[in-house]
Amino acid sequence: VPVAVLISGRGSNMGALIAASLHTDFPARIVSVISDKPNAKGLEHARGFGIEAIAIPRADYDSKAEHEAAVIAALDAAGAKIVALAGYMRLLSGDFVTRYAGRMINIHPSLLPAFPGLATHERALAAGCRVHGCTVHFVTEGMDEGPIIEQEPVRVEHDDTPETLAQRVLEAEHRIYPLALAMVARGEVRMTSDGRAQHSRS
Ligand code: GRF
Repeated sequence: VPVAVLISGRGSNMGALIAASLHTDFPARIVSVISDKPNAKGLEHARGFGIEAIAIPRADYDSKAEHEAAVIAALDAAGAKIVALAGYMRLLSGDFVTRYAGRMINIHPSLLPAFPGLATHERALAAGCRVHGCTVHFVTEGMDEGPIIEQEPVRVEHDDTPETLAQRVLEAEHRIYPLALAMVARGEVRMTSDGRAQHSRS
């Protein structure tokens, strides 16, 4: 299944998806990487694997709608059937989300529904959480609100800082994102019309 990855920065989750997709039995292939930031590190990383990687900067367009239209045109040109958001720092419009309903997924660094939004590690520590983690979910209109596909818990250590905790959560992200993408590509999980994730295996 052809997949496009949308990034804004470092692209380590993108890298994990690319690495997994190089295995012959992986059901998805990364055909395109698109960044809204021209200087995103992930673009060079993707090109290193021979993957088409393009910047579509928001600043080049007058409106959010025109920017999204350009992203959609690039996704269509690449033949992407699934869209994976990997540190894409832009809230997508309802039209965009509807177009890819059940075919667009996101990785988030918390055990949703706890801590949607930014600064999740700081907030988990401030709340005294003993367990934190990460979530892959289908993308819906609300930020970090879509139905959950996969999660991995990470224990909080007494001496964790936001940085040390973020590092262990990131390692978990790199494990579950390829797993979740494979589940979606194989049709082992799907988003129902009433907006739930329906798992048919594992
Ligand atoms: C990850 O923590 C991801 O969960 C969050 O943004 C970060 C992106 O990191 N949405 P990277 O660009 O994948 O390295």
